Amino acid sequence: MKPLIIANWKMNPASQKEAKEIFELVKKGFKNQKNAEIVICPPFVYLPAVASGKGGFALGGQNCFYEEKGAYTGEISALMLKNMGAEYVILGHSERRKYFNETDQQINKKIKKALLAGLKVILCVGENAEENKQGKKNQVLKTQLEGCLEKIARDEIKNIIIAYEPVWAIGTGNNCSIDETMSSILSIRQIISRLYNRKIADHVRILYGGSVNSNNSGSYIKEARANGLLVGGASLLADEFVKIVKSST
Ligand code: PGA
Repeated sequence: MKPLIIANWKMNPASQKEAKEIFELVKKGFKNQKNAEIVICPPFVYLPAVASGKGGFALGGQNCFYEEKGAYTGEISALMLKNMGAEYVILGHSERRKYFNETDQQINKKIKKALLAGLKVILCVGENAEENKQGKKNQVLKTQLEGCLEKIARDEIKNIIIAYEPVWAIGTGNNCSIDETMSSILSIRQIISRLYNRKIADHVRILYGGSVNSNNSGSYIKEARANGLLVGGASLLADEFVKIVKSST
């Protein structure tokens, strides 16, 4: 399976012009690249501009709401994303959990609507520094996965990708060690195996995210056996992002 590399631009850049520039540079760096699947997740407002020139890339949203339509000022539905050309949506990112108080139950509702709209979901899970220090990581992963995947049927898991993103590693430069990433990926597979079955657990794609750069990216794929990467800050630096993708193949 090709590695799946996701660019999460978060709330950047400040203008559509810059968004297009980053995108064009990334595209230039990947002429004829067929060894990785690349998903660009820009802010919603830049999706049309990026979609119009997307070439071999897939697009994703960074969030969506759990209702289909109606009086929900400021929200974006899964179907809107799909109709705009997105194939993926990131859900449950720790920044959504932290700043917008998103719960596993809300994330679960969002996942159901995203799947219904035909989107693939990138579900983020991960412990914070305190939980890690107290040895609660596996319990946190179990609670998050159980809550977020509640009543999601076996045949829908193929459209869910899990991103292990320890909160303490995001945007800090303090990336997770290869050994710890490997053991977290294993824990996630075990939890999925108990929730579904072994075969599903063996096949579910599990990515790593948190201070990924071109110096550490290759090791997550080749040594920690992550099936891909969720890249934040470094995905806005076109050269660096191109290097990250190349290192993973
Ligand atoms: P980072 O962000 O690469 O800037 O640490 C990763 C993420 O939040 O998905």
